[in-house]
Amino acid sequence: MFEEIPTIESILPLKIYNSFYIPSNIKRDIFMMERTVKCPNCGNTITTSGSYGEVVKVICPYCSTKGKVTFGYPISSDESAIEVSNLRKEYGDLVAVNNISFKVKKGEVFAFLGPNGAGKTTTVEMIESIRVPTAGAVKILGNDISSSFDQVKERIGVLPQEFHSFERLTVRETLEFFQKMFKNRASINEIIANLDLKDQENKLYMNLSGGLKQRVGVAISLVNNPEIVFLDEPSTGLDPKARREVWEVIAGLRNKGKTVFLTTHYMEEAEYLADHVAIIHKGNIIAEGSVEELIRKFGEGSILDIKNCKTEDAIDALKQSGFNAKQEDNGDIEVYIEHKERVLEILSILRHEAIDYDAIDIRRSNLEEVFLHLTGAKLSEEDE
Ligand SMILES: Nc1ncnc2c1ncn2[C@@H]1O[C@H](COP(=O)(O)OP(=O)(O)OP(=O)(O)O)[C@@H](O)[C@H]1O
Ligand SMILES: [Mg+2]
Repeated sequence: MFEEIPTIESILPLKIYNSFYIPSNIKRDIFMMERTVKCPNCGNTITTSGSYGEVVKVICPYCSTKGKVTFGYPISSDESAIEVSNLRKEYGDLVAVNNISFKVKKGEVFAFLGPNGAGKTTTVEMIESIRVPTAGAVKILGNDISSSFDQVKERIGVLPQEFHSFERLTVRETLEFFQKMFKNRASINEIIANLDLKDQENKLYMNLSGGLKQRVGVAISLVNNPEIVFLDEPSTGLDPKARREVWEVIAGLRNKGKTVFLTTHYMEEAEYLADHVAIIHKGNIIAEGSVEELIRKFGEGSILDIKNCKTEDAIDALKQSGFNAKQEDNGDIEVYIEHKERVLEILSILRHEAIDYDAIDIRRSNLEEVFLHLTGAKLSEEDE
């Protein structure tokens, strides 16, 4: 990797992605920018251009050293949009939220990830002033909500869990209805256009599909042009296509500079959208960081699957070279690798030992494994 020379661009806090972190079909706003980097070999400075999320290959014109430059997404600010301190909620004997503290930065998608019953809705609804905390404090945009919630309610938008609207209002009427509650008013035409609801604007809410209803829910949360949008499980219960559509809407909110507080029990959703993830389990935050940081800290690295080979010989050879190799239930071999560069070493061992195989797959650790590592349980199983 080339070392980066500080520029105005790099003074912004940048979210650095790995090349295979960028889903190819994500529709981010594309605009080009320039970065100046320093060759690690000869020290020559090179200017290169790319778009957000892109990993550009660079060859030093003086010494021909090859390297990569990652163009991260800028996060608009280091300032906090939300500050939660020692927040607690008891329901009788049950401690649903156990003195948690965290901060959400302005302009980021903050994913609050956890299984059913972890305390996500209780937390988010305390932040929204819908539920009263047993103890602790919440600041939104610098205002303590226990004394100044009126100052912030115009500046936030809320999509509650399992949201429903009026069956017999059209999409446009629904948005107009909710907008009347606020002094700040966004253009409804713009919301309809941005959320791709033009074809639906005159349809009754009750006649929309589940995915479209959720999209209307997000649209309602935007009628006052909020700076912070709270979305509680916006894609739960949707089919994969509708879920993707909701994800694109959320990515679009972020691109418009809004702060998004997203609660979810889908780790793919957090991996796809989040700048920062807090994992909540039984009322406690058990880990926090970017997806990249969490996977690096608690994941297994990458996993290489070798399909259909002489299992024992391969495991012996790989173990002798220090690899953590084991047989999976389906007979394939699974090898844990901390750095993807070690893949070549594995291939050369297999070739050297003349071990034949049908195929190899590489998959990287994900948040599911992070959750497993931290709790001993699978996120998906806890949901059942
Ligand atoms: N009003 C309430 N009275 C009593 N217990 C409650 C109440 N609301 C939630 N709980 C309990 O508090 C715990 C946390 O619930 P919460 O709804 O915050 O979890 P969640 O993470 O949002 O779950 P899900 O993914 O199912 O929405 C659960 O054990 C739940 O049963
Ligand atoms: Mg919930």
